[in-house]
Amino acid sequence: MDEKSSDNMGKLYVIGVGPGASDLITVRAARILAELDVIYTPTGKKGAKSLAHSIIEEYLLAETKVFTYHFLMKADIDAKNAVWDEVAHSLQEEVSDGRKVGFITLGDPMLFSTWVYLLQRLVSTQMVIPPWLEIVPGITSFSAIAAAGTMPLAMENQTLAVISCTASETTLEQALLNHDCLVLMKVYSHFPLIRNLLQRHNLLEHALMMADATLPGEQCWRDLTTLPFSEKDCRQELSYFSTILINKNWQLSR
Ligand SMILES: C[S@@+](CC[C@H](N)C(=O)[O-])C[C@H]1O[C@@H](n2cnc3c(N)ncnc32)[C@H](O)[C@@H]1O
Repeated sequence: MDEKSSDNMGKLYVIGVGPGASDLITVRAARILAELDVIYTPTGKKGAKSLAHSIIEEYLLAETKVFTYHFLMKADIDAKNAVWDEVAHSLQEEVSDGRKVGFITLGDPMLFSTWVYLLQRLVSTQMVIPPWLEIVPGITSFSAIAAAGTMPLAMENQTLAVISCTASETTLEQALLNHDCLVLMKVYSHFPLIRNLLQRHNLLEHALMMADATLPGEQCWRDLTTLPFSEKDCRQELSYFSTILINKNWQLSR
């Protein structure tokens, strides 16, 4: 970005919009959303409405320009990089032109968020954080699930691991053995593997799974043995937004 006087610069707000319910965003996020010139919202499918956008739509001014970009979940790395390069460039231009720009992400922007690919492009190679960037935290999916499922995340000297189920079976198993409490994200087609691991280590009675938490279709399973999902069924029937919480010191009643 060209050097400009800070008076002429706009600002980029990266805003966590929470797990799904529109009233689970922060007061700061709501205030900033109501002041934006333009907002960038992600969608995983071309032409589909962005979930993040539908969560915060009610807080936007009618005149705020909405730019929906399609991030490619299954494309090769070069195609993905091309999208991130383009969006990063476009955000920098908007800020350079003096606009207040919002970039929204589900949950919290600093947890398993594709926003970090943009952050890598916006900070310089010396890791200097741009003065025109503000990150607004959001409620993570797992804190919303712990509240909705009444399951404590961790207490006292317990350890809490947050892991993506895309990790290897060995990594997942080691984490199950080494920690008192765990959050397993991106469960999706990995559910049969996870259930087997939980069964092998007698953890089923300490685990719950929630899909689409705080959204209208929210589902909660306290007994994972009742789910018939095969890997193929998971791809078709289990929401991408599914997360498992485990607390070895908290036994669930069914
Ligand atoms: C790319 S990560 C985004 C995480 C997000 N930044 C956060 O703070 O929760 C997507 C994963 O988050 C979890 N997730 C996000 N929203 C959820 C919801 N409403 N209910 C259950 N799990 C959710 C799922 O494990 C999903 O696969």
